Amino acid sequence: MNQPPPQQSHLGAGYYGPPIYAYPQPPPPPNEHFRRLITIAIRAFIAFCVAFGLAILILWLVFRPQKMRIAVSSAYLRRFDLTSSSGTRFLSFDLSANLTFRNPNTRAGIYYDWLEADADFDGMRLGTAGLPVFYQARKETREVPAVFQGRLEIGTPSGSEVEYQRDNATGVFPVDLWIFGRIRYKFGSAVTRRYIMRAVCPARLPLGKVGFSYTDCKVLDL
Ligand SMILES: *[C@@H]1O[C@H](CO)[C@@H](O)[C@H](O)[C@H]1NC(C)=O
Ligand SMILES: *[C@@H]1O[C@H](CO)[C@@H](O)[C@H](O)[C@H]1NC(C)=O
Repeated sequence: MNQPPPQQSHLGAGYYGPPIYAYPQPPPPPNEHFRRLITIAIRAFIAFCVAFGLAILILWLVFRPQKMRIAVSSAYLRRFDLTSSSGTRFLSFDLSANLTFRNPNTRAGIYYDWLEADADFDGMRLGTAGLPVFYQARKETREVPAVFQGRLEIGTPSGSEVEYQRDNATGVFPVDLWIFGRIRYKFGSAVTRRYIMRAVCPARLPLGKVGFSYTDCKVLDL
Protein backbone atom coordinates (compact mmCIF):
# COMPACT_ATOMS: atom_id res chain seq x y z
CA MET A 1 0.00 0.00 0.00
CA ASN A 2 2.35 2.65 1.20
CA GLN A 3 5.15 1.92 -1.20
CA PRO A 4 7.85 4.52 -1.38
CA PRO A 5 8.19 6.10 -4.77
CA PRO A 6 10.66 4.13 -6.91
CA GLN A 7 12.82 7.19 -7.46
CA GLN A 8 13.55 7.54 -3.78
CA SER A 9 14.69 3.94 -3.39
CA HIS A 10 16.97 4.35 -6.43
CA LEU A 11 18.51 7.43 -4.94
CA GLY A 12 19.26 5.61 -1.71
CA ALA A 13 21.02 2.78 -3.56
CA GLY A 14 23.05 5.31 -5.53
CA TYR A 15 24.23 7.11 -2.45
CA TYR A 16 26.12 4.11 -1.10
CA GLY A 17 27.16 2.92 -4.54
CA PRO A 18 30.61 2.66 -6.19
CA PRO A 19 31.00 6.20 -7.65
CA ILE A 20 32.47 7.40 -4.36
CA TYR A 21 35.36 4.91 -4.70
CA ALA A 22 36.03 5.53 -8.40
CA TYR A 23 39.20 7.55 -7.56
CA PRO A 24 40.93 5.67 -4.78
CA GLN A 25 44.02 8.00 -4.82
CA PRO A 26 44.07 11.62 -5.87
CA PRO A 27 46.19 12.01 -9.10
CA PRO A 28 49.60 13.83 -8.78
CA PRO A 29 49.01 17.55 -8.87
CA PRO A 30 48.89 18.47 -12.57
CA ASN A 31 50.95 21.63 -11.88
CA GLU A 32 54.14 19.72 -11.05
CA HIS A 33 53.93 17.62 -14.19
CA PHE A 34 53.44 20.73 -16.30
CA ARG A 35 56.37 22.49 -14.69
CA ARG A 36 58.66 19.56 -15.47
CA LEU A 37 57.57 19.64 -19.13
CA ILE A 38 58.25 23.38 -19.35
CA THR A 39 61.73 22.93 -17.85
CA ILE A 40 62.55 20.23 -20.38
CA ALA A 41 61.26 22.39 -23.23
CA ILE A 42 63.32 25.40 -22.10
CA ARG A 43 66.49 23.30 -21.78
CA ALA A 44 65.92 21.80 -25.22
CA PHE A 45 65.37 25.26 -26.67
CA ILE A 46 68.60 26.62 -25.13
CA ALA A 47 70.56 23.59 -26.37
CA PHE A 48 69.09 24.09 -29.83
CA CYS A 49 70.03 27.79 -29.85
CA VAL A 50 73.61 27.06 -28.76
CA ALA A 51 74.00 24.35 -31.42
CA PHE A 52 72.48 26.61 -34.07
CA GLY A 53 74.79 29.50 -33.10
CA LEU A 54 77.84 27.23 -33.21
CA ALA A 55 76.85 25.89 -36.63
CA ILE A 56 76.48 29.45 -37.97
CA LEU A 57 79.85 30.44 -36.46
CA ILE A 58 81.60 27.43 -38.01
CA LEU A 59 79.98 28.07 -41.38
CA TRP A 60 81.01 31.72 -41.19
CA LEU A 61 84.62 30.82 -40.33
CA VAL A 62 84.77 28.31 -43.18
CA PHE A 63 83.08 30.47 -45.80
CA ARG A 64 84.02 33.93 -44.57
CA PRO A 65 84.40 36.08 -47.70
CA GLN A 66 87.56 38.09 -48.15
CA LYS A 67 87.51 41.65 -49.43
CA MET A 68 88.18 42.15 -53.10
CA ARG A 69 91.57 43.55 -54.11
CA ILE A 70 91.50 46.73 -56.15
CA ALA A 71 94.39 48.53 -57.83
CA VAL A 72 95.04 51.22 -60.40
CA SER A 73 96.93 49.12 -62.92
CA SER A 74 97.58 51.93 -65.39
CA ALA A 75 96.79 55.60 -65.72
CA TYR A 76 97.52 58.43 -68.10
CA LEU A 77 97.09 62.10 -67.24
CA ARG A 78 96.81 63.75 -70.63
CA ARG A 79 95.88 67.18 -69.42
CA PHE A 80 95.93 69.05 -66.10
CA ASP A 81 95.91 72.80 -66.78
CA LEU A 82 95.03 75.93 -64.90
CA THR A 83 93.19 78.31 -67.18
CA SER A 84 91.37 81.62 -66.71
CA SER A 85 88.35 82.88 -68.48
CA SER A 86 86.80 86.26 -67.63
CA GLY A 87 88.48 86.31 -64.24
CA THR A 88 87.42 82.78 -63.26
CA ARG A 89 90.05 80.10 -62.75
CA PHE A 90 89.46 76.62 -64.06
CA LEU A 91 91.27 73.36 -63.69
CA SER A 92 90.94 71.37 -66.92
CA PHE A 93 91.68 67.71 -66.74
CA ASP A 94 91.78 64.60 -68.89
CA LEU A 95 92.63 61.44 -67.02
CA SER A 96 92.13 57.84 -68.04
CA ALA A 97 92.87 54.92 -65.77
CA ASN A 98 92.38 51.19 -65.65
CA LEU A 99 91.18 49.76 -62.38
CA THR A 100 91.83 46.11 -61.61
CA PHE A 101 89.33 44.19 -59.48
CA ARG A 102 90.35 40.82 -58.15
CA ASN A 103 88.19 38.35 -56.24
CA PRO A 104 90.54 36.45 -53.91
CA ASN A 105 87.86 34.05 -52.64
CA THR A 106 87.93 30.36 -53.47
CA ARG A 107 84.27 29.86 -52.46
CA ALA A 108 82.49 33.15 -53.06
CA GLY A 109 81.57 35.01 -56.22
CA ILE A 110 80.95 38.77 -56.09
CA TYR A 111 78.12 40.74 -57.67
CA TYR A 112 79.05 44.37 -58.26
CA ASP A 113 75.54 45.83 -58.45
CA TRP A 114 76.69 49.42 -58.66
CA LEU A 115 80.15 50.99 -59.07
CA GLU A 116 81.42 54.54 -59.36
CA ALA A 117 84.85 56.18 -59.27
CA ASP A 118 85.63 59.74 -58.17
CA ALA A 119 88.88 61.62 -58.77
CA ASP A 120 89.95 64.07 -56.05
CA PHE A 121 92.74 66.63 -56.22
CA ASP A 122 93.62 68.55 -53.06
CA GLY A 123 90.27 67.65 -51.52
CA MET A 124 88.28 68.82 -54.55
CA ARG A 125 86.22 66.42 -56.58
CA LEU A 126 87.34 66.71 -60.18
CA GLY A 127 84.76 64.36 -61.58
CA THR A 128 82.88 61.12 -61.35
CA ALA A 129 83.02 58.13 -63.66
CA GLY A 130 80.36 55.45 -63.77
CA LEU A 131 81.82 51.96 -63.97
CA PRO A 132 80.21 48.87 -65.49
CA VAL A 133 78.36 46.44 -63.23
CA PHE A 134 79.45 42.83 -63.41
CA TYR A 135 79.61 39.47 -61.72
CA GLN A 136 83.03 38.21 -60.73
CA ALA A 137 83.52 34.47 -60.28
CA ARG A 138 85.94 32.99 -57.75
CA LYS A 139 89.60 33.94 -58.22
CA GLU A 140 88.76 36.08 -61.24
CA THR A 141 90.47 39.36 -62.17
CA ARG A 142 88.87 42.06 -64.25
CA GLU A 143 90.09 45.36 -65.61
CA VAL A 144 87.66 48.28 -65.78
CA PRO A 145 88.38 51.59 -67.52
CA ALA A 146 87.60 54.92 -65.83
CA VAL A 147 87.77 58.23 -67.68
CA PHE A 148 87.60 61.69 -66.14
CA GLN A 149 87.37 64.68 -68.45
CA GLY A 150 86.16 68.20 -67.88
CA ARG A 151 86.96 71.36 -66.04
CA LEU A 152 86.38 72.47 -62.51
CA GLU A 153 85.93 76.03 -61.36
CA ILE A 154 88.31 76.92 -58.54
CA GLY A 155 88.19 80.08 -56.48
CA THR A 156 90.87 82.77 -56.69
CA PRO A 157 93.11 83.01 -54.82
CA SER A 158 92.92 79.49 -53.51
CA GLY A 159 95.09 77.04 -51.65
CA SER A 160 94.43 74.56 -54.41
CA GLU A 161 96.22 76.82 -56.85
CA VAL A 162 99.26 76.92 -54.56
CA GLU A 163 99.14 73.14 -54.37
CA TYR A 164 98.79 72.96 -58.13
CA GLN A 165 101.86 75.18 -58.71
CA ARG A 166 103.91 73.10 -56.31
CA ASP A 167 102.93 69.84 -58.03
CA ASN A 168 103.29 71.34 -61.49
CA ALA A 169 106.92 72.16 -60.67
CA THR A 170 107.59 68.45 -60.04
CA GLY A 171 105.46 67.29 -62.98
CA VAL A 172 103.61 64.74 -60.84
CA PHE A 173 100.09 65.31 -59.50
CA PRO A 174 98.72 63.42 -56.51
CA VAL A 175 95.15 62.43 -57.34
CA ASP A 176 93.07 60.18 -55.09
CA LEU A 177 90.76 57.81 -56.89
CA TRP A 178 87.81 56.81 -54.73
CA ILE A 179 85.74 53.80 -55.64
CA PHE A 180 82.24 53.33 -54.29
CA GLY A 181 80.12 50.28 -54.81
CA ARG A 182 77.28 48.06 -53.71
CA ILE A 183 78.16 44.41 -53.74
CA ARG A 184 76.78 41.00 -52.79
CA TYR A 185 78.62 37.73 -52.22
CA LYS A 186 77.40 34.49 -53.75
CA PHE A 187 77.99 31.09 -52.14
CA GLY A 188 76.74 28.32 -54.37
CA SER A 189 73.14 29.33 -54.94
CA ALA A 190 72.92 31.50 -51.80
CA VAL A 191 73.43 35.24 -52.12
CA THR A 192 74.19 37.56 -49.19
CA ARG A 193 72.59 40.91 -48.48
CA ARG A 194 74.03 43.99 -50.14
CA TYR A 195 77.17 45.56 -48.69
CA ILE A 196 78.50 49.08 -49.25
CA MET A 197 82.07 49.14 -50.52
CA ARG A 198 84.46 52.09 -50.38
CA ALA A 199 88.09 52.12 -51.52
CA VAL A 200 90.75 54.77 -52.02
CA CYS A 201 93.71 54.69 -54.39
CA PRO A 202 96.43 57.30 -53.77
CA ALA A 203 97.64 57.69 -57.35
CA ARG A 204 100.59 59.86 -58.34
CA LEU A 205 100.16 60.90 -61.94
CA PRO A 206 102.98 62.18 -64.12
CA LEU A 207 101.57 64.78 -66.50
CA GLY A 208 101.63 63.88 -70.18
CA LYS A 209 104.05 61.03 -69.68
CA VAL A 210 104.00 57.31 -69.27
CA GLY A 211 105.64 56.16 -66.09
CA PHE A 212 102.69 55.69 -63.78
CA SER A 213 103.40 52.99 -61.25
CA TYR A 214 100.84 50.36 -60.28
CA THR A 215 99.00 51.58 -57.17
CA ASP A 216 97.15 49.37 -54.71
CA CYS A 217 93.88 50.67 -53.36
CA LYS A 218 92.75 50.34 -49.78
CA VAL A 219 89.31 48.82 -49.36
CA LEU A 220 87.91 50.69 -46.37
CA ASP A 221 84.34 49.57 -45.83
CA LEU A 222 82.77 46.28 -46.35
C1 LIG B 1 93.60 50.36 -70.25
O1 LIG B 1 93.59 49.05 -70.81
C2 LIG B 1 93.33 49.02 -72.20
C3 LIG B 1 93.21 47.57 -72.59
O2 LIG B 1 94.12 46.78 -71.91
C4 LIG B 1 94.45 49.76 -72.92
O3 LIG B 1 94.20 49.74 -74.31
C5 LIG B 1 94.51 51.19 -72.42
O4 LIG B 1 95.60 51.85 -73.00
C6 LIG B 1 94.66 51.22 -70.92
N1 LIG B 1 94.53 52.57 -70.45
C7 LIG B 1 95.54 53.21 -69.84
C8 LIG B 1 95.24 54.58 -69.38
O5 LIG B 1 96.62 52.70 -69.67
C1 LIG C 1 103.42 74.03 -65.26
O1 LIG C 1 104.79 73.75 -65.47
C2 LIG C 1 105.20 73.91 -66.82
C3 LIG C 1 106.67 73.58 -66.93
O2 LIG C 1 107.04 72.59 -66.04
C4 LIG C 1 104.96 75.32 -67.31
O3 LIG C 1 105.30 75.44 -68.68
C5 LIG C 1 103.48 75.66 -67.12
O4 LIG C 1 103.28 77.03 -67.43
C6 LIG C 1 103.06 75.42 -65.68
N1 LIG C 1 101.63 75.64 -65.58
C7 LIG C 1 101.09 76.55 -64.79
C8 LIG C 1 99.62 76.72 -64.87
O5 LIG C 1 101.76 77.17 -63.99
